Amino acid sequence: MQKVGVLTSGGDSPGMNAAIRSVVRTGLEYGIQVYGVRQGYSGLMEGDMHLLTSREVSGILQRGGTILQSARNEEFKTPQGQKRALRRLNEKGIEAVVVIGGDGSLRGALALHKQGFPVVGIPASIDNDIDGTNMSIGVDTALNTILDSLDRLRDTASSHTRAFLIEVMGRRCGYLALMASILGGAEIVSTPERECTMDEIATALSDAYVRGKSHAVAVIAEGCSYKVTDLAAYLDQKSDVGFEVRLTILGHIQRGGSPMAFDRLLATRMGLRALEALREGESGVMVGLDGREMKTVPIEVATARTRPISEKYFEMARILSR
Ligand code: ADP
Ligand code: F6P
Repeated sequence: MQKVGVLTSGGDSPGMNAAIRSVVRTGLEYGIQVYGVRQGYSGLMEGDMHLLTSREVSGILQRGGTILQSARNEEFKTPQGQKRALRRLNEKGIEAVVVIGGDGSLRGALALHKQGFPVVGIPASIDNDIDGTNMSIGVDTALNTILDSLDRLRDTASSHTRAFLIEVMGRRCGYLALMASILGGAEIVSTPERECTMDEIATALSDAYVRGKSHAVAVIAEGCSYKVTDLAAYLDQKSDVGFEVRLTILGHIQRGGSPMAFDRLLATRMGLRALEALREGESGVMVGLDGREMKTVPIEVATARTRPISEKYFEMARILSR
């Protein structure tokens, strides 16, 4: 194997650059040229790829985002789009691809594998919704970003005896919301896995007020069935919550920032392991953190379901929120 492509796809996450750097530097170790594909599967179909030198990946380890950029592209979901991509890869003499991205991107990688093209996936999504790995690239940094914001909001909430609703990302998975609730000391958390009704949230905030708390926080995952703005309006019209209620939607702040040490190490290990897997002839697999070990799992398995959250964390959140 002499030429490998690398691309980043879907929602970006802090640590993607560290993974790109690791793939390139590991490739150089094994005499493999790594070609960077711009803008995910869009660039793949356009043949927008160039050789990544060691120098080109210098100084990116600490940078959020992705130097290759990312994209969401519907055409690649079609056999025609996938064949266009394969044609471009063959034109450039590229023999395999490392795909760095979330659940959807990994499904795209699987499509290429099923067409007989060697692919290895690296899980990168702040949602931690990808099964088959304890953690995906970007989760820890996003969680720390959320906690920094939550701590700041608690400062002002306690100054004004207020309750804050904080919406966090996680399209289908409440991992960020649940962990932020536990680690940020929230009074209640609502996730797609364990959704709280508006009344239950009102009661939790009201109980906190009666217990004499100076403030309260409710963390709401964006994947819940109701809009957090509707929840805020509902609480506003209730007279017995006690606290004044304010709303903060963290949004895309959670996707940016310099990757923390955990994500730099995770991304670096995954990049190295991905190239090792390709050299060992693996394809259609995703690199995954299993305890302390870096293993490979079939992409079919990794994408069969949204990564489940351990029940013990929901119990922990309930106990610690008193
Ligand atoms: P993420 O990777 O963050 O989950 P998306 O779900 O948007 O983000 O997927 C990123 C891209 O992966 C999509 O825009 C599309 O190009 C490709 N993709 C997603 N699902 C599939 C699929 N089932 N088959 C082929 N390509 C897919
Ligand atoms: O999948 C990662 C994610 O950040 C989700 O948490 C969020 O719902 C989505 O991407 C936002 O997508 P976009 O960046 O396209 O607005």
